[in-house]
Amino acid sequence: MLTVHAVSRRYGNDLALEGIDLSFENGVYGLLAPNGAGKTTLLKMLAGLLPPSEGEISYEGKSIAALDEKYRMQLGYLPQRFGYYPSDTPLKYMQYLAAIKGMGRKEALERSELLLEAVALGEVKRKKMKTFSGGMIQRVGIAQALLNDPRVLILDEPTGGLDPKERARFRSLLTKLGRERIVILSTHVVSDVESVANEIVLLKNGRVFAKDKPEDICAMLAGKVYETKVPDTEAEAFRKNYPILAERGEADGWQMRFVSEGEKTLPHWEPMKPGLEDVFLYVYRDRERQTAEQRLFPREPVGVGEGGRLR
Ligand SMILES: Nc1ncnc2c1ncn2[C@@H]1O[C@H](COP(=O)(O)OP(=O)(O)OP(=O)(O)O)[C@@H](O)[C@H]1O
Ligand SMILES: [Mg+2]
Repeated sequence: MLTVHAVSRRYGNDLALEGIDLSFENGVYGLLAPNGAGKTTLLKMLAGLLPPSEGEISYEGKSIAALDEKYRMQLGYLPQRFGYYPSDTPLKYMQYLAAIKGMGRKEALERSELLLEAVALGEVKRKKMKTFSGGMIQRVGIAQALLNDPRVLILDEPTGGLDPKERARFRSLLTKLGRERIVILSTHVVSDVESVANEIVLLKNGRVFAKDKPEDICAMLAGKVYETKVPDTEAEAFRKNYPILAERGEADGWQMRFVSEGEKTLPHWEPMKPGLEDVFLYVYRDRERQTAEQRLFPREPVGVGEGGRLR
């Protein structure tokens, strides 16, 4: 078990994270929060690369700082941005990292080849990485994090740049990996974790806002999400009154998906089952930006023939 106890992290005088208490057992954990919320900060601390300003992180009951190398032997880590020599091939890069981790040559070669196959890079394992796309590089990163068959796998935005097919492949890999180790990944893409994470951790204002099964997180908005058609003339007032989750301009008005906290509902409001995306949008709604956006791009009534615009 990996536990985070009363951890805070400051950068200068700025408090990035405060009073974080979390515990992780085998399974997949999705750390979901917007840009700048502190995901990377938390993951770097969990990887033992950044010391907490306060509090302690422990693995199997011992402080990871004290375990030091013993912990690192159990750890696989994919940084949000990782460095490599552009003229290296993925195979050479993996073998180099395996050597640093103290693996023997033969084992390193075998395991590197297997892992590159697993992320669908088997055919290009001897090509220079400077010729790779962003998504291919990302897959090299995922493979290297698995070199030492880690008990704790920490992935900082592993799906950035992956196409839908590779995302799907990655999700099924995650499910397998999570059966016998702790897998913690950060993302701001809800669909990356909605179906595969055993638990979702939401960070807000530097604190843990929620840590729960995806369905229990969705239950936060149970009975509060609706859809309805709003005529153009009433749309502005409607946007002021209700947090909007999605809206689509159609010929006869706006199809709005929104949250109503109150008791009062109207007959033409259709109750909807909340999804994780709804919760994300609601928890992290940003009133100031919405106002700025409305001033920059005032929404004109949509004419016939312009329907189907999704905003
Ligand atoms: N090295 C640093 N020095 C100063 N401030 C930092 C440093 N790293 C992060 N921060 C600040 O800490 C906060 C959290 O940053 P962090 O990178 O952990 O967020 P994040 O959730 O990973 O964001 P993103 O989704 O953009 O990757 C931000 O306000 C950021 O400006
Ligand atoms: Mg980050």
